[in-house]
Amino acid sequence: MQTYDTDKSRSGDVHCRHPRGVLSVLAAATLALTACGGGGGGDEVSQEPPLPLDPTLVAAGQQTFRHDSFGDERFWTDVLMMNQVIESAVDPLTAASVGLKIDADALPAEVLEGIQSGAIPLDDPQTTLALLKLDAVLGAKGEVSQGPDGRLALKRFGVTCALCHSTVSRDLHVLAGGKTDLVGIVGHRLDGWPNRDLQPGTILSLSPALTEKQAAEYASWATLYGPGFYDPRINVNTDPGSNPAVGPDVDANLAAYKAAGGIPVLIPPAFGLVGLDKSTVTGDGDTAHEPAGPVAYWNRYVGVAQMHGQGSFFDERLIINGQPLRVDHRGGEDRVTAVLPGLEAYQWSIAAPTRAKDGAQWGVAPQLDAAAVARGQLLFQGQAQCVACHSGPAFTDVNTFGLHLASASVALDKNYIKFSATQRWRTSPLRGIWQHPPYFHDGSGAFDTQSGKCRDGSDIGSLAASHDRAQRDLACVVNRYNDPAERNLRLTDAQRADLVAYLQSL
Ligand code: HEC
Ligand code: HEC
Repeated sequence: MQTYDTDKSRSGDVHCRHPRGVLSVLAAATLALTACGGGGGGDEVSQEPPLPLDPTLVAAGQQTFRHDSFGDERFWTDVLMMNQVIESAVDPLTAASVGLKIDADALPAEVLEGIQSGAIPLDDPQTTLALLKLDAVLGAKGEVSQGPDGRLALKRFGVTCALCHSTVSRDLHVLAGGKTDLVGIVGHRLDGWPNRDLQPGTILSLSPALTEKQAAEYASWATLYGPGFYDPRINVNTDPGSNPAVGPDVDANLAAYKAAGGIPVLIPPAFGLVGLDKSTVTGDGDTAHEPAGPVAYWNRYVGVAQMHGQGSFFDERLIINGQPLRVDHRGGEDRVTAVLPGLEAYQWSIAAPTRAKDGAQWGVAPQLDAAAVARGQLLFQGQAQCVACHSGPAFTDVNTFGLHLASASVALDKNYIKFSATQRWRTSPLRGIWQHPPYFHDGSGAFDTQSGKCRDGSDIGSLAASHDRAQRDLACVVNRYNDPAERNLRLTDAQRADLVAYLQSL
């Protein structure tokens, strides 16, 4: 067996070693909140979620997650002028083409009927404004007014967490004008499920406030990477409006950032995170750097530094242009800090979906070949050595081992880690991965239907014909691990297919 470049000696990466069954205790009424025994500084105490989660806190967090913009209209309206762009040019079909989703349950019956009969046109920006007025567009907040002539105007526009981390079910068939099936566009809200159809870069590129080079960079993400990608590091490394420590020349900053390897990454799920000591793929979020919790750390970062909500963020580990990252968008009022505990509780309350229970609403066959799954499980725990890192109830060793050195990731990109606070990787939790292809932070665990090969150029044999995207992409993930230059597992075609079946079942 190969030895991994693990790094147990680093302080802060050492955690309690007793298995705690985090997911199973969610159901239990009581839980003794045990801290790690012995030896640790405060930094090393494993974060225990206060279970059972307080339902009032969870309910408040749901409201925040879905509807709170933290006052980021000051950016999306006053700086980016997205309200003008939307009002003049973004009809519902255009919005859908860049991945925006409509909450069917927020639509009154007469609106649904109007869409179906064709009486409500989907190629008119006025309809987008009407949908915003109904609060029916996931993650988008609009203040809409009506003029004396009956025309709607978009006064203020802002975004919420749900823009990127919620999507809709694929089991509703609203036929626009009696013919265009809006499946996957109009559906039931699924919080925590990443919106992998969203093109945040394309949306941002429409803002007239950007330089030409900035707009081109944002617009390039969808072409180069596909939908579902966002770069949460680009603005603090390039835009003086986001981080006063960077120089005044945005285009020069951008060129330097791209030369250093800055890339957009996949929007991850916000489910299945309960009790994990660290958040994000590089484990930046932890209680040592945000008292409200590991998920709350990142929520503050995104809420303030990305959404531009009214709050502040500081992390002495993130040195950009020689200075620790400090972002202050409070403008006299902190609208972020107080909601963080609820926000984290809500995300912790979202369990990873299961194929058997949730597959159907996602258009995924709930059944798998049980014999193949069982053989794959043996490989996962044996010859393929996946369990060396993907261990425990959530299939990650983050609470028992800590973070891993750079070489632990077999993704094609090797640079994203450099822009993180930890310069390490967190082993990704694997529950519910059947739901969110492609894989790895950079999406390099992916099959390309055009070339008929994986992103790394490898083949997946007969699985190339599969209609289940997760199956094809997971086959490419297994190929990355099997690669002689990576883990060199020497798995046969049949073994790889079995391992894929097991991964699909998690
Ligand atoms: C524009 C899209 C976007 C918005 C809006 C957004 N996020 Fe994220 N989120 C991302 C991306 C991209 C990452 C991956 C960052 C990484 O791993 O380095 C991420 C990471 C996360 C994670 C880490 C998941 C894990 O595996 O540990 C959580 C939790 C999260 N976001 C919650 C939120 C919440 C809550 C909000 C609202 C305050 C929010 N996000 C707003 C794009 C977004
Ligand atoms: C040395 C520790 C380690 C081992 C061993 C390991 N992984 Fe991973 N795994 C990681 C890390 C770290 C990531 C995140 C990498 C990234 O996104 O760049 C990851 C990511 C993944 C992902 C993508 C998850 C997502 O949400 O995109 C899958 C799937 C996966 N691993 C499966 C496996 C399988 C199957 C094996 C065995 C063949 C395995 N891993 C062995 C550490 C490991």
